[in-house]
Amino acid sequence: MGFFNNMLGSGESIFKNEVALDYGFIPKVIPYREQQQRLVAAAINPLFNGRSGRNLLVHGPPGVGKTVACKHVVNEIEEHTEDIYVLYVNCWHKNTSYQIALELCEILGYRLTHNKKSDELFEVIKKLLNEKSAVLVFDEVDKLQDYDFLYFLLEEVYRKSIILITNYKSWITNLDERVKSRLMAELLEFLPYNKAETTGILKERLGYAFYPGVWPDEIFAKVAEKTYEHKDIRCGLYLLRESGNAAEERSSKKIELVDVAAATKKLDEFNIKNPDELQDDTKFVLDIVKKNSGQKIGDLFKKYQEEGGKRVYKSFQRKIKSLEEGRFVSVKKVTGAGGNTSIIEYKEQEKKLTEF
Ligand SMILES: Nc1ncnc2c1ncn2[C@@H]1O[C@H](COP(=O)(O)OP(=O)(O)OP(=O)(O)O)[C@@H](O)[C@H]1O
Ligand SMILES: [Mg+2]
Repeated sequence: MGFFNNMLGSGESIFKNEVALDYGFIPKVIPYREQQQRLVAAAINPLFNGRSGRNLLVHGPPGVGKTVACKHVVNEIEEHTEDIYVLYVNCWHKNTSYQIALELCEILGYRLTHNKKSDELFEVIKKLLNEKSAVLVFDEVDKLQDYDFLYFLLEEVYRKSIILITNYKSWITNLDERVKSRLMAELLEFLPYNKAETTGILKERLGYAFYPGVWPDEIFAKVAEKTYEHKDIRCGLYLLRESGNAAEERSSKKIELVDVAAATKKLDEFNIKNPDELQDDTKFVLDIVKKNSGQKIGDLFKKYQEEGGKRVYKSFQRKIKSLEEGRFVSVKKVTGAGGNTSIIEYKEQEKKLTEF
């Protein structure tokens, strides 16, 4: 009796909204970081009165909410005023002053960048930014190859708050004295979450991502425990998603311990620093990206098939996603003539979760 009660029908899913498990997903509220968010807001606040703001160096280990908390605050600015530009750049993706100049132009809607040098682009940026005030967030600044753009912005933009985000507080000591003395950044530290906070954050995400009843409490507790051990919320999001995938593969409507165990095993792969240690099929996909860096995902899939890849497109996409999460590749969503697609770039090995 009831053998099939716990079985998923075809086309059914235990995921209500898988996007909520993406690392870039911004929840409506960011609990446990009220104080930090208030400090970010306070640094920006003078801009609302036409004065210049203060600069911040936000620092702390990976996966403790630095990016999400800062984005949450700056996103709110646009609800209050049109007089402040908000510009966010991830320096892992854009790590030279030239690339940053192009990115700032793009955010500002300035399109005539072709054949222009950095200096010319920065002149445009200066002109635009000085028409209003600006909040400039540069995330993952430890990945920068040069700091000329910082010097320029500090010198030439009058009403601004520059927020720099990094894992290393010591990053600032390497800056040129000229930049350092102009920056005068206040330090804002993010410490890892305690166990109750870790559990609270994951529980909320789980509520967004899964249908009710999918996660028995004691099974979810294992995920929270493991995440707390790693001190990185991303581990928890990864475990939630992968456990869900594992359960679906068994056509189960509920997550069980075996699913969390399978996900935990994969987490070890996710923590791998050396691409040679990846599973063969993951490495195969990575090699395709490496040889064809900067191409559209659909084209990469064709190359993958040509070279003998056997997975279906959806599963290929998932491999790309896990490579992105492991920071082996970067994914940029673009809108072109043919609709939306993703450009995949190969990345030389960067920081990993376990390096801290
Ligand atoms: N207080 C919170 N409430 C809700 N979600 C959170 C919270 N803190 C972190 N997260 C989630 O955890 C993930 C990692 O957070 P985030 O990207 O902000 O980390 P980070 O500190 O910037 O790490 P890194 O230094 O590696 O960039 C994100 O998906 C984020 O939404
Ligand atoms: Mg971050």
